[in-house]
Amino acid sequence: MPDYYSYDWISLESASLLPNGRVLVTWPDGHELECHPLWLRENSPGPGGIDPRSKENDLDVAKLDLDTQIKALSVENGGLVVEFGPESRKARFHPGWLRHVADGDHYPFALLPDLQVWTSRDLPEPPTHLGPLVIENDEAFVDWLHDLLRYGLARLVSLPPEDGVVELIGRRIGVLRDSNFGATWHVSVDLDPNSTANTTIGLPAHSDLPSRETPPGFQLLHCLENTVAGGRSTMTDGLAVAQHFEENEPEVMKSLTNDEWVFSNRDGKHDHRWTGPMIDRGDGRVPWTFRAFHPVRGFPAMPPERINDAYFAMQRFGRVANSSDFQIRYDLNPGDLIAFDNRRVLHGRESFDSSEGHRRLRGTYLDSDEVYSRMRVLRHSIHEPGHSLAFSSARKESNA
Ligand code: OGA
Ligand code: ZN
Repeated sequence: MPDYYSYDWISLESASLLPNGRVLVTWPDGHELECHPLWLRENSPGPGGIDPRSKENDLDVAKLDLDTQIKALSVENGGLVVEFGPESRKARFHPGWLRHVADGDHYPFALLPDLQVWTSRDLPEPPTHLGPLVIENDEAFVDWLHDLLRYGLARLVSLPPEDGVVELIGRRIGVLRDSNFGATWHVSVDLDPNSTANTTIGLPAHSDLPSRETPPGFQLLHCLENTVAGGRSTMTDGLAVAQHFEENEPEVMKSLTNDEWVFSNRDGKHDHRWTGPMIDRGDGRVPWTFRAFHPVRGFPAMPPERINDAYFAMQRFGRVANSSDFQIRYDLNPGDLIAFDNRRVLHGRESFDSSEGHRRLRGTYLDSDEVYSRMRVLRHSIHEPGHSLAFSSARKESNA
């Protein structure tokens, strides 16, 4: 098996050679897969193919014979058996492994939940889970991650309000993403702050570190202490805001997705900069990256005649993203941890008065890859077909 997962043995019904030289395999339920001979050859188990130890391909493509053809093929005990030519090589393919390709489960988003775009009407409160249970139990952990990926945010409650907890939860997911703020960092009122976050100033709907080529994918914020007046937390689904502009203010959307700004993030020892639009659609697939944080937005990087419109668009973005139609407001209490997709969901907080209390949070970042990877592994180990959680359409089709 050229994979670390184990697959159910879903016997093939037939295998035939097509006039184009490819192999067509079919299953009794009507699913089928067309396999290119070069792809089959590369993925054939054994030396010069998939190394059984690493499950990786050890065939240098420079040595692949592009004239490789299928000399013979058959279905044996429901599995695919292929003989290649002109080299003499026989290979067996697990039908369950072929089926996961037929179902599209090898694509990056296949084992992840479908995204659910939300406004304050659909989701007045962050989805909330019990922190101690998520620490101990994989089922509870995957349910929390499922909400985190689906809605772009999910809260844990009843955790100890202690240092080290944000690290513990972050490491349960994967490798923390370090930065010049440290692998974990504090949010509190600093006498000499190197970030607006460490003042009592309110923070409108924003994303962290838009000054990086790839801003952090996920952020965790754990509340250690909160006895100040004000300082409620906010969240806005950037995808809902984008949908609003796409449908109602297309000129604004055009500016938000095209007009670029220089973002920069500096202190005495660091000088991070990146240029991008406020809504960066990348290659068109979700996740998009929302770049929004006025303290670190420096300069327009667009033709001068675009600047007026770009300021207007940015102001419209801020007004909509901070409006009660789109933004939710909730208390972050000691022991609460809010996790969110920093590139999709815009977070913020109200200003607060620290003269009669303290407000201390501890935060960390993780690349999206870490969250996706943990979810895929848990998805395979816990949520076998038939579980009630809704996974992506590729998955659902395969279970139909
Ligand atoms: C931040 C931030 C939120 C808060 O540190 O970037 O957004 O509630 N903090 O203080
Ligand atoms: Zn922030």
